[in-house]
Amino acid sequence: MAVDLKDVTDVATEPGTLPATMAAWVIRQDREGEPRDAFQIEEIEVPEPGALEVVVRVMAAGVNYNNVWAAMGKPVSVFRYHPEEDHHIGGSDASGIVWKTGPGVTKWQPGDEVIIHCNQASYEDPEVHGLDPLAAPSQKIWGYETSWGSFAQFTKVQAQQLIHKPKNLTWEEAASYALTYFTAYRMLMDRCNIQAGERVLIWGAAGGLGVFATQLCRLAGALSCGVVSSPEKGALLEQLGITGWIDRTGHAGMMRKGGESPDEEKERFKAMRGFGKAVRDVLGDDPNIVFEHVGQATFPTSVFVVKPFGKVVICAATTGYNLDFDVRYLWMRQKQIIGSHFANAWECTKANELIASGEIRPVLWRVMGFDGVAEAHQLMKENKHLGKIAILVGAPETGLGKTEEGPGAIYAEVGA
Ligand SMILES: NC(=O)c1ccc[n+]([C@@H]2O[C@H](COP(=O)([O-])OP(=O)(O)OC[C@H]3O[C@@H](n4cnc5c(N)ncnc54)[C@H](OP(=O)(O)O)[C@@H]3O)[C@@H](O)[C@H]2O)c1
Repeated sequence: MAVDLKDVTDVATEPGTLPATMAAWVIRQDREGEPRDAFQIEEIEVPEPGALEVVVRVMAAGVNYNNVWAAMGKPVSVFRYHPEEDHHIGGSDASGIVWKTGPGVTKWQPGDEVIIHCNQASYEDPEVHGLDPLAAPSQKIWGYETSWGSFAQFTKVQAQQLIHKPKNLTWEEAASYALTYFTAYRMLMDRCNIQAGERVLIWGAAGGLGVFATQLCRLAGALSCGVVSSPEKGALLEQLGITGWIDRTGHAGMMRKGGESPDEEKERFKAMRGFGKAVRDVLGDDPNIVFEHVGQATFPTSVFVVKPFGKVVICAATTGYNLDFDVRYLWMRQKQIIGSHFANAWECTKANELIASGEIRPVLWRVMGFDGVAEAHQLMKENKHLGKIAILVGAPETGLGKTEEGPGAIYAEVGA
């Protein structure tokens, strides 16, 4: 059935009651491919909340790279994660209003204004109750490994995913940051135990993870060197308190492509050494921490440039997940590689307090209407964005939902 996008900001029911259907951006397995084609708007039934679940009316949604992967069906199809649904409604960031609570939910009431963190795990797994929900066999990322994400009028989540919406933010600002900011928080604060005075190299520093890694370094009193691919992105980093930045286009020779000849390998090592010197020029010494998510192209450089006894913390591999590097630099210099994945509810809650106090700020590049979901993911795939993109869903215009004064988001005025 055709969906009239004019109606997306209207909901026919009051909090406490759900309408029968909703507009949603849907990926189907038979159209996985470029985001602009894979995402299509459909009319879908509104899910009922089960035990300890909540249905939230989405006021705004945040765009993340995970649904670029979902659209492409790479490295695996998301339908493998939720075979019980033949639709994938993506979207792992949202701000919204609690609309209906399921049995057993006591902390939240219809009408509460919330943001949503994207980690789900079963209440029944013992890891959730003493180790970490990220260690639970049931652990999934909502809106990527599950359907019922935020690119729809309503989303279904576990009650433990809800966090009070910071009052100083608009709907679109509040929807934009959680996934990447909370991931960067765990990587630096908990997995690396970052210390004042340490030096950090941040790949993709003007991207979704990077803008928060940069701000966290500033807040922790660490020096930061951001890597970017344009001076415009470098200018954004200066607004965020970066110590200095490097345009990687001047160091293209360091990138690992795979299948290089011995002579090409020698050249690559020379280029890595040159990059290492550029990093030292910014930081005054080699980095104690390298913030990794690029993967195959940069990982050998990360292991090479990090200081002896330093840490390479990695949460993704955008350029490829089969990593190879010269391991002599790892063992002889006693370096560590640390894996990290999103964050637990406690980390999310602590990190969110820094947003509510204005010490960490969302970084918005573009706010698009509900019709922009496919285009936003295409822009992200083509690396044409800076910081974050938000999508208005229930909010009829930008600037709504803020109920207290505060610094709000930083708006990246430059870009594609
Ligand atoms: N495990 C987790 O919990 C988790 C959480 C969040 C994100 N992720 C993953 O992390 C990755 C990045 O996410 P994001 O939100 O930061 O994405 P993003 O907004 O696209 O930013 C990534 C940045 O990486 C840089 N980059 C891209 N290709 C590169 C290359 N070939 N060499 C060097 N740098 C390159 C780009 O910066 P320049 O072009 O300016 O260098 C880009 O701004 C994605 O794969 C995402 O799925 C994982």
